[in-house]
Amino acid sequence: MNKEIYTPGHTKNATNFMAKRTVESHGQFFAAQIESTSKVLDLGCGPGTISIGLSELAHAGFVHGIDFGESQIEKAKSNAAEAECENLTFQVASCYELPFPNEYFDRVFSHALMEHLKNPIAALSEAYRVLKPGGIIGICSPDADGWLLSPPSQALKASVNAYADMQKENGGNLRIGKEFGVLLNQAGYSNIQLSARYECYPSLEFIGEYLALQFEQKDRIEEARVLRDWSTSKDGMFAQSWVSAIGQK
Ligand SMILES: C[S@@+](CC[C@H](N)C(=O)[O-])C[C@H]1O[C@@H](n2cnc3c(N)ncnc32)[C@H](O)[C@@H]1O
Repeated sequence: MNKEIYTPGHTKNATNFMAKRTVESHGQFFAAQIESTSKVLDLGCGPGTISIGLSELAHAGFVHGIDFGESQIEKAKSNAAEAECENLTFQVASCYELPFPNEYFDRVFSHALMEHLKNPIAALSEAYRVLKPGGIIGICSPDADGWLLSPPSQALKASVNAYADMQKENGGNLRIGKEFGVLLNQAGYSNIQLSARYECYPSLEFIGEYLALQFEQKDRIEEARVLRDWSTSKDGMFAQSWVSAIGQK
C-alpha cells in the first residue's frame, strides 16, 4: 500500500485540537456499548483523551490505543499517566496491520480516522479480524456535505471546498460519513446502525486557525487568509456534521 498522508499533520495545533475531545463530547454514540469488562481497541487514538474516558467505562477490562503517529502515542501515554489510568496502554501501529491476534477484542472504537484513509474497507476488515465473534465496532467521521458555515461567502465556500479537495488529493475523503453503512456492510459487519449529529465549534478562531495552518503549510496563502478573516466574525458559525455507525461481527 502507498504511504498514507495524514492531512492535518501532527503539529502542536492539530494535536491540541484533538486533545480537547473526551468520551462525553465525542464518544457518546459508543459509550453504551462498552461494558465494565470490555477489551477495547481505540484505532487512530491521537492524543488519547477519548481513550481515557473509554478506559473508565471499561474499568474492569482494558483499552489499547494505536496510532501511526509516534508523537501522538507519546502524548497519549503522558495524558494517560496524568489521569492515572492503569488499564490503558498505547502503541505505534498502522490500522492496516494491527499487532494483535484474531478475535482479541470485544469492542473496536475509531473516531475521526476513516476520513483520512486511502482504503477504509481494508482498515475495517482488519478491525473485523481482531474482533471476537459478536464483538461491536463504533466509528465516527465528519461529512463535509453537511457543514453549516456563517457568515456565508463565495470565498469561504471555495476555501472549505479546497480543504476537502486537499484531503482527497491525499487519499482521504471528508465526505465519507454518509458511506459508513455501505463500507461496514462490505467489510462483513451486520446489525449496522447509523446516526448523525452536529457539533458547533465554540471558537471560530480555533477552527479557523486549524484549517488555515494546513493551507499555509502548502503555501496556499489566499485560502489561509480567507479562513482567518472569516474566523474573526463576531456572530458566525461552524457546525461540524458527524456521522457515527455501529456494526457487529
Ligand atoms: C483526526 S485524528 C483523531 C484522533 C482521535 N481519535 C480523536 O478523535 O480525537 C486521526 C488520527 O489517526 C491517525 N492515523 C491516520 N492514519 C492512520 C493509519 N493509517 N494508521 C494508524 N493511525 C492513523 C493520525 O495519526 C491521527 O492521530
